Amino acid sequence: MSENSKPPWWKSAVFYQIYPWSFQDSNGDGIGDLNGIRSRLGYLRGGPNVALGIDAIWLSPVYPSPMRDFGYDVSDYVNIDPRFGSLHDFDEFIKEAHGHGLRVIMDLVLNHTSDQHAWFVESRRSRSSPRRDWYCWADGKSFGRRPSNWNARFGGSSWTWDPRAGQYYLHSFLKEQPDLNWQNPSVRSAMWDVVRFWLDRGVDGFRLDAINWLGKDMRWPNNPFRFGLRGYTRQHHVHDRDQDIAHEIMRELRTLVSAYPDVVLIGEAAADTPGGPASFYGRGDDELDLVFDFRVMKSPWHADSFRRFLTTQVPSIPRGGWPTIVFSNHDQPRHIDRYGTEGNAEARARAAALLLLTMPGTPFLYYGEEVGMRNVTLRYSELRDPYTKRFWPFRPGRDPARTPMQWDASAHAGFTTSRPWLPVAADSSSLNVARAAADPCSLWSLYRRLLDLRRTSPALNRGAYRVIGGSPRDCLVYEREARTEQGAIEKMLIAVNCSQRRYEFNLPEVADGMQLLSTNSTAPIASEVKWDPARIVLDADEGQLIRLS
Ligand code: NOJ
Repeated sequence: MSENSKPPWWKSAVFYQIYPWSFQDSNGDGIGDLNGIRSRLGYLRGGPNVALGIDAIWLSPVYPSPMRDFGYDVSDYVNIDPRFGSLHDFDEFIKEAHGHGLRVIMDLVLNHTSDQHAWFVESRRSRSSPRRDWYCWADGKSFGRRPSNWNARFGGSSWTWDPRAGQYYLHSFLKEQPDLNWQNPSVRSAMWDVVRFWLDRGVDGFRLDAINWLGKDMRWPNNPFRFGLRGYTRQHHVHDRDQDIAHEIMRELRTLVSAYPDVVLIGEAAADTPGGPASFYGRGDDELDLVFDFRVMKSPWHADSFRRFLTTQVPSIPRGGWPTIVFSNHDQPRHIDRYGTEGNAEARARAAALLLLTMPGTPFLYYGEEVGMRNVTLRYSELRDPYTKRFWPFRPGRDPARTPMQWDASAHAGFTTSRPWLPVAADSSSLNVARAAADPCSLWSLYRRLLDLRRTSPALNRGAYRVIGGSPRDCLVYEREARTEQGAIEKMLIAVNCSQRRYEFNLPEVADGMQLLSTNSTAPIASEVKWDPARIVLDADEGQLIRLS
């Protein structure tokens, strides 16, 4: 990018992840759908009533799917699952979203398809099927042993025996999700047709699923043993993922999408990616624009984790790349409960909102986090996700973070008119958008105010940053700085106490300023008060935002 060219839109955008099953049902079948999401665009962007004010939507998969992995098992990449609507509904949704000034990115599942996809149905028919080598087939070793010891991410072996032609096929996740063979040029060309299909329909980019698994060693060597608590962690995943070919595929995709204006590519890279998620930015301009960094998401509520993000992880991103900030998504327990312990969940969620919307990078909100939706305790009989069921009750699983959006206090929280696919949280009559938006001290109002500030502050949405030393270890203090369009320098300071102790300290090298907000719920959110670096007082789990003089 030349010095004078405009920065790409996604650098200053805020994304909002919609889990289509749970956002808004429009036809009363208990499952969210595209027309439902369309009816809430005003809420996301800006409407006559309640409006959050985000810039882009990441839509989790809406493709036809047997839903073994709730859409991440795609059986047709160029259509819409009837549960969510039709291609016509999708076109209308994109048109209207763009009309609201919202960009839309789709999920793209490259590593595997559903076992119901026509490609796999044909591939498994016989060894001589023209699509046999579209997937990863292998003979067993002698004495009926599997081709390798590889373990699947969702439990058990990565190999399943298929009696039809007497071979094993590889699946890095569920056995209903066979892995594609990305060494085959026909697979690439078919998937690139899919990419063009959606770009031609107007989507603004893709979130690329599970990119670590695209590169595997197809000579099938065993992974070395490792001490670990459960199957997947009991081996070093050096052969079943993270081979260089994944980068070659990303570069090919980058070249393809550069024929379209303003497209963003966002990668989901595992927390333990070799070289860190930064490796998927390539040289900074030839692979992905944004890569999720799950090391932050997997860290506890501790100032050191966020400090490490700012001092080590962000600087490792090559020039041209840009960080992401994400605390919750459809695979993890919601961060309000991950960070919160008894009694302080709300305070921590408020301080986390300040970090999310002021650290350098592109923030991603997960639907409902703005109202403080919690992980919902579900009975086994209520679970839907096979992965959640498999490890229940030993692991929290994913369904508790996928429950219907809490819009209002009406029956089923305004999400649907009939029985919802997953239960609505019991607290929805008190914890919902309608109520939170009417309360100027709510978490929702704090998100709203931070989103406004971020949009209008060059320092917050694209400024340089520096971590300020000299604070107690439990407190993180950093500064953002940028030149405004009028040529003035704008400086913001953020101070967050990630502990239950109250701290008082001073920072002699910092200028004084005006405090724009405190995340402490007892303080009125909109008041601006004089702030003095000679006596900084941070209550337990409190965050402050200061405009420096
Ligand atoms: C990551 C997705 O976020 C998750 O939901 C899915 O189960 C796996 N990839 C497999 O596609």
